[in-house]
Order: sequence, then C-alpha cells, then structure tokens
Amino acid sequence: MAVNLKGRDYISIHDFTVEEFRELLDMAHYLKRLRLAGADFRPLAGKALAMIFHKPSTRTRISFEVGMMQLGGQALYLSAGELQLRRGETIGDTAQVLSRYVDGILIRTFAHQDVTDLAKYASVPVINGLTDLLHPTQALADVMTIEEKMGGLKGVKLAYIGDGNNVAHSLMFASAKCGIKMALACPEGYDPLPEIVRQAREDAVETGASIELYRDPFEAVAGADVVYTDVWASMGQETEHAKRAEALKQYQVNRKLMSAANRGAIFMHCLPAHRGEEVTDEVMDSKQSAVFDEAENRLHAHKAIMALLL
Ligand code: CP
Ligand code: NVA
Repeated sequence: MAVNLKGRDYISIHDFTVEEFRELLDMAHYLKRLRLAGADFRPLAGKALAMIFHKPSTRTRISFEVGMMQLGGQALYLSAGELQLRRGETIGDTAQVLSRYVDGILIRTFAHQDVTDLAKYASVPVINGLTDLLHPTQALADVMTIEEKMGGLKGVKLAYIGDGNNVAHSLMFASAKCGIKMALACPEGYDPLPEIVRQAREDAVETGASIELYRDPFEAVAGADVVYTDVWASMGQETEHAKRAEALKQYQVNRKLMSAANRGAIFMHCLPAHRGEEVTDEVMDSKQSAVFDEAENRLHAHKAIMALLL
C-alpha cells in the first residue's frame, strides 16, 4: 500500500515504519533534485507553520523558514518569551489555539514531554525541532547525506564519538531504520539512555542494522565509513561545561582518530561545532568533512517532512 503521512506528527524516528522513513528520505532527495533543477514546487501554498523556539537555532529555524517559503507556504518564528506560554498559558491551550490558525507546529524545547503534550492537544501535525532527548529532523538530513556520499545505507558503518545525547539518540533510531551499523564510543556517565538503545536495537532487527557501544573511540572508528561527533555540552548544560570537557577530552575527533577509520571515511557534525573541543579545525576543514553538505541537506529534509505531513 502507498505510504501516506498526511496529518502525522514528526516526534521520533522510532514512530515511523521502515517504509515510511524511506518515503521521507526519497522525498528529501527528490526535492533536492527539483531545487537544483530550478523547478518550482509549491504544494503548501496558503499553509502556515508555527515555530516555537525555547532554545537558540541557526540551521533548524532558517531551513524550516526558507523551506516553507520555497514550498509556497509561510513559517512564523515564535520566540517562547514573546508568547503567553511564558506567562502561564498552558501548552494544551496554546496547542488548541495555534491549531485554529496554522497547519503545523514545530517546537524546539527542553523537556521531551512538552512536545508530546503539544501533540496531544494540537489537531495539526507537530514537528520536534529538538528536545533534550531527541533531534529527529537532524537525523533525517544526516542519513540523506550518508546516502549521497556512500551511494547507499545498508551495511554502512557509522561511528559516533562523544556525548550520548539527543543527536546520538536520533541517529541510533535513523540507523536502525536504514540498516546502518552504528558504533558509539562514549565515556562512562555519558552513555546514551539504555531505553533508547533497547528500542533502537529492536528496530534494527528488521533491517540488519546494529547498535554497538564502546568506551574506546579507536575501537569504534575501526572500519567506519562515517565518523560523527557533537558538542560536549548541549544547550541547557552550559554550567557543566568544564566537567564535561574533562570527561570527554579523550573523545576529540582529530586527524589521528580519522586516520583510524576507513580510507575515504567522511566526517559529520550536526553543528554548531566547538572547534578545538570535540573536533579540530584540521578535521572540520578537511576534504573528508561533509558538515556543510549535511547542513544544506537540513533544508531538503525539512521540506520533505513538511510536504508529506502538512
Ligand atoms: N544542528 C542544528 O540543529 O543547528 P541549530 O541549533 O543551528 O538549529
Ligand atoms: N546536542 C546539541 C545539538 C545542537 C544542534 C544540543 O542539544 O545543544
């Protein structure tokens, strides 16, 4: 049966079947080709997306805003501090009111529960633009980038080095849906959540993917086609920065670590990067670095999410 995602929320990649996630990926590649060919495609003419941001953003905000414009619709940036939400209006009431005006709601926030609450009360699709737990719009653009660079996904080895955070969690779910062999190396105390690992491993059975956990970054990158890292202190963890930098200092992606991966391996990072911490300038600016193609693909991937769900 044809896949129909109209009206669905995009909260976690775990919520989608392998076929549904494939549809999102195929649409992302298609919309990129259309854009490169200069073709106009405006399936969302007259539609609006509300975007609530409780945390800063460069890529997510701008790519959704521009993407919505390219699809013929309009995005509204709503800084949380300027909404009545900050003065005590509930998430449920906000969701119901926004649903009377707009055709979709994106939210970037701290507690994951806020996104699921919003989705419970909204009658339009809700898109998770990052929580402390997950970053699923990022992971769609990431597997799209890997597919472009590697020519496929099944059997590709992805090594994630560093903090087992929101980005790592969504990458595990995306890898599981796509048959990617993912190896994570995180220091003790910074492992991904056991419940997310368990769910991703469950998903992995269907596609032949695997999720393996290591302490030693060199062990994790052996045979890797992709080496991925993220910041040591995520948004909201600024006060823990010194402690985290100490715990994660052996997990820097530098030339030595990259040379332990496959020849031709690419380097990825969701950005923003803290150069000199989790990654060196040398790696960020090397020929192996795919970070700016990855950032560009946020635009195409987000357009796919909106075109299929809204
Ligand atoms: N990677 C990412 O989500 O970037 P922003 O925080 O700039 O949106
Ligand atoms: N883990 C990072 C990702 C930023 C896009 C954070 O949550 O701040």
